Amino acid sequence: MNIHTYEKFWLAASMLLIVGFILTITYGSVGLGIAMIDDSSPTVDPDNLGEHPGFSDPGVERVGENEYEVHVIAVQFAYFPGEIEVPANSTVTFRLTSEDVIHSFSVVGTNANTMIIPGEVASLTVETEEPGEYGIICSEYCGAGHHDMEGKLVVVP
Ligand code: CUA
Repeated sequence: MNIHTYEKFWLAASMLLIVGFILTITYGSVGLGIAMIDDSSPTVDPDNLGEHPGFSDPGVERVGENEYEVHVIAVQFAYFPGEIEVPANSTVTFRLTSEDVIHSFSVVGTNANTMIIPGEVASLTVETEEPGEYGIICSEYCGAGHHDMEGKLVVVP
């Protein structure tokens, strides 16, 4: 290698860096970055949840062998149902919506966490393992009773 080759290398490297910066900015500005709830999430009418097949009677439903679907409605300042019981060693998909403002569904001590937006249905799938009890808390400020908004997830044998 002579000096000339080094120069070429660094020229190319700095060009790459600039292109990289531009790509990063473009990528961020078109919103492909973090999509917590995408535009294609199913929509519901928050004022008529009673007419929705899943949300008219929220709760746990067995949808396959070791597979469960749980519809949950969040309101100021509770979850319906407030206590959710699911079997260990199964796949559980939560379908969540809100009747009023933005809430969240955060299973304490796990990475299971999603925002709940009125008019949209958030989905969250978890694999249950050992039996145990988990707290569910709302981590989006939703009003005066936000700190009291909690539920319980019980994984039964
Ligand atoms: Cu619901 Cu904070």
